[in-house]
Amino acid sequence: MGKIVGLDRRTFIKSAGLTALAGAVGTGSAPAIGASSKSALKSGKFDFDTPYNRVGTNCSRWDSPPKNYPSGNFRFGMGVATMDFEAAPCITEALEERIKHHSWGYLSSTDSLRDAIVQWNGNRHNLDLDPQSIVIAAGVYPGVIAGLRAFSPSGTKVLMLTPIYDGFKTHASHTMVIPNESPLLYRDGRWEIDWADLESRMTPDTRTMIVCNPQNPTGNVWTQEELLRIGRMCLEHDIIVLSDEIHSDIVRGGQKYIPFASLPDKDVVNNSITFNAISKTFNLAGMKNAYFYTSNPVLFGRMQQYHRADLSTLGVVANEAAYRHGADWFDQVLPYLDENHRFAEAYVNEHIPLVKVKKAEGTYLTFFDFSAAMERVGAAEMAKVHNKRSPEHYFQDWLVENSGVYINPGSNYGVGGEGHMRMNLASSRVVVKEAFDSMAAALRKV
Ligand SMILES: Cc1ncc(COP(=O)(O)O)c(C=O)c1O
Repeated sequence: MGKIVGLDRRTFIKSAGLTALAGAVGTGSAPAIGASSKSALKSGKFDFDTPYNRVGTNCSRWDSPPKNYPSGNFRFGMGVATMDFEAAPCITEALEERIKHHSWGYLSSTDSLRDAIVQWNGNRHNLDLDPQSIVIAAGVYPGVIAGLRAFSPSGTKVLMLTPIYDGFKTHASHTMVIPNESPLLYRDGRWEIDWADLESRMTPDTRTMIVCNPQNPTGNVWTQEELLRIGRMCLEHDIIVLSDEIHSDIVRGGQKYIPFASLPDKDVVNNSITFNAISKTFNLAGMKNAYFYTSNPVLFGRMQQYHRADLSTLGVVANEAAYRHGADWFDQVLPYLDENHRFAEAYVNEHIPLVKVKKAEGTYLTFFDFSAAMERVGAAEMAKVHNKRSPEHYFQDWLVENSGVYINPGSNYGVGGEGHMRMNLASSRVVVKEAFDSMAAALRKV
């Protein structure tokens, strides 16, 4: 691990270039970034406003991008989907308790963790899960890969609605399955399914469909009607649904996440496998723990043939602690993220006319339309000149060099992502605001 530069706010602010705020450090005065953030700092049990330093902790969000920018201009890691907040204390306490026992052999059982998963999903989402139908995995990744191996023989196709999480294309390439991309259509501020296109892609060589709910990066929280329609179409065309619900807990106020397994059609549900984790909810991605389940014993058996988890003791301890004792932490994170989304939309509307955005329905990610800004900097031409993968990749570099802000190219997420960039808003609002100020200043000059 790289040297930990100290988890104090001053060092972080300095290393992230938050110079405007440096004066406030140590004085106890919160920077003036809006009344709501101040009141969150005062009234909340947990402090999400004070930036928690992750720089120098071998963390992909903050420590990977600078390797590609030797200019030293990188300042804000707003890409990789992890949160910057200090973990829920219940997780740290459970880990501390476990490390008092100094033996690290194989785990005996995950029964207690599965019981906690059942309770969380029951309490939060009114989902009645049978613990015997749940398999613990070392991540959503290995689960989905097992799903593709089990149901999509190499050379067949996997259907997905794009723009979608880029990991799915990686899974397809690992399993020699061909991605079949049905582009969403952006209409009246929402990414909508092109039903005719989707159905036209349900060809006999398409064996699985990955549903992402809520969808990374577009933020869609799919409605019951949409999920049922997808489910029935898949059933009719002999396509197994692999439903990735890793962002399930993170939806905006007023939105409702519908578990695929809760749909009111038994046949549709029996034609699906759900992949989930609490790793986005509690920022536990590095603890390598997730799960999948299906009510269909045949699908369950097939999955077991292709999946084997090697679990980490500390991962199991951390995840169970989050499920059992972390609700109050998450209940404070969720409105904080909502406020970051509201802030981002308002800021862009007011200060960055070259960019368009609508508050996402779910996830802590936001998907901006940067096409006008990209045109101003000649991203399409410059991408060719500099041999970049896409205009969005050129623009990513441009933004780092001119504002210090690192965000993800929309073209990573498949057809329809052109002209867009994905930004992670799961940070202190102090950091989010500084990143936006910096982007706004850079874009004012073009
Ligand atoms: C939709 C989606 N699925 C899966 C993953 C990765 O999950 P895991 O780390 O459990 O493999 C991510 C991470 O960003 C994601 O956004």
